[in-house]
Amino acid sequence: MRVSEIGFGTWGIGKTAWVGAIDSVSVDALKTARELGINFFDTALLYGDGHSERLLAQAFGNADDVVIASKVPGKVPAKPGKRFAEVYPLTHVQGCLDTTLLNLNRDAIDLYQFHGWSEQWADDPDWHDCVEKIRGSGKARFIGISVNHHEPNSVLPALATGLVDSVQVIYNIFDQAAQDKLLPYCHEHQIGVIARVPFDEGALTGSVTPQTTFPAGDFRNWYFVGERKQQVWGRVQRLLADAAIGLEELPEFALRFCLSHPAIAAVIPGMRTVNHVRNNVPASDQGPLDAALLERLQQHRWLRNFYRTSITEKLQVFSSAPLSEKITTILKRFGRG
Ligand SMILES: NC(=O)c1ccc[n+]([C@@H]2O[C@H](COP(=O)([O-])OP(=O)(O)OC[C@H]3O[C@@H](n4cnc5c(N)ncnc54)[C@H](OP(=O)(O)O)[C@@H]3O)[C@@H](O)[C@H]2O)c1
Repeated sequence: MRVSEIGFGTWGIGKTAWVGAIDSVSVDALKTARELGINFFDTALLYGDGHSERLLAQAFGNADDVVIASKVPGKVPAKPGKRFAEVYPLTHVQGCLDTTLLNLNRDAIDLYQFHGWSEQWADDPDWHDCVEKIRGSGKARFIGISVNHHEPNSVLPALATGLVDSVQVIYNIFDQAAQDKLLPYCHEHQIGVIARVPFDEGALTGSVTPQTTFPAGDFRNWYFVGERKQQVWGRVQRLLADAAIGLEELPEFALRFCLSHPAIAAVIPGMRTVNHVRNNVPASDQGPLDAALLERLQQHRWLRNFYRTSITEKLQVFSSAPLSEKITTILKRFGRG
């Protein structure tokens, strides 16, 4: 399977967690991406309960030059202590794959990924059986794992089984952890790596300043809660000075950083507009950053987990939200038990 170095991340256009996408604009962005040479689109059943998958079908029909990767959500979160069969019961995986194929209007998907992983599952016969059955059904050409946030090494034992074709992992200038073990392993064993969240959810585009606000309900209200915007802005300033680039060059620089590692098959920036597509595609033609610069960028590693928020931070986001959103949050919380 050959994919363009720049792929298209579709979480944002799915319209859960991210607020503000307009479907007609999203479809234009998808079509422009294809016209400019992007052939790889990453989606998930979770993104808008299939909404981003349906937008892909709307944009491309079932054109066979478009490579699509989707993901099966866990029935429950992939937390330590849960067995594979609790998180991904076979009937659940098969049912989700059928729904995804209906959404995409396809008979088969190019790459099907487990949306979350636990290190303990590598030798679990239920997982091996599930992979064999999914492959055997002819409904998925390749099988991948999208690892949990900030746990790149958790997938290594599973890779050693030889059952996995690709890994999706956070990889960006701030979070370079995948470089330590995962990327060298995948490079050596020819396992495709998809670099996700290349802009650290927008931080590495330079658009998150201390004054930035996000729409009500947007997950970035808590990802960048409290002092985090200030911290991000300070880090970005140091990066620009060290790399001797201007703010407007940062998005391309951030993508080139990802593509500079030989293990990376594709980087999948989240894009929602034609402009962002046009701005991001050229990164693929600029080649890798030079070795001395990459060495200096090691100093910009930043160990933290913004996907975690404390109770106080959650309360801070909740208390500043409008009433309608407060009600929705409470209903969702209790609706899910
Ligand atoms: N667990 C998982 O499997 C998992 C988790 C997270 C993400 N992913 C995948 O990885 C993809 C990428 O991650 P992400 O979308 O969360 O974050 P990301 O790619 O790090 O950042 C997306 C953000 O970058 C902005 N952006 C894109 N191009 C830009 C440009 N040229 N100039 C300025 N801003 C630009 C977007 O702006 P706007 O806000 O203006 O649109 C959006 O805010 C997702 O879409 C999804 O496919 C998978």
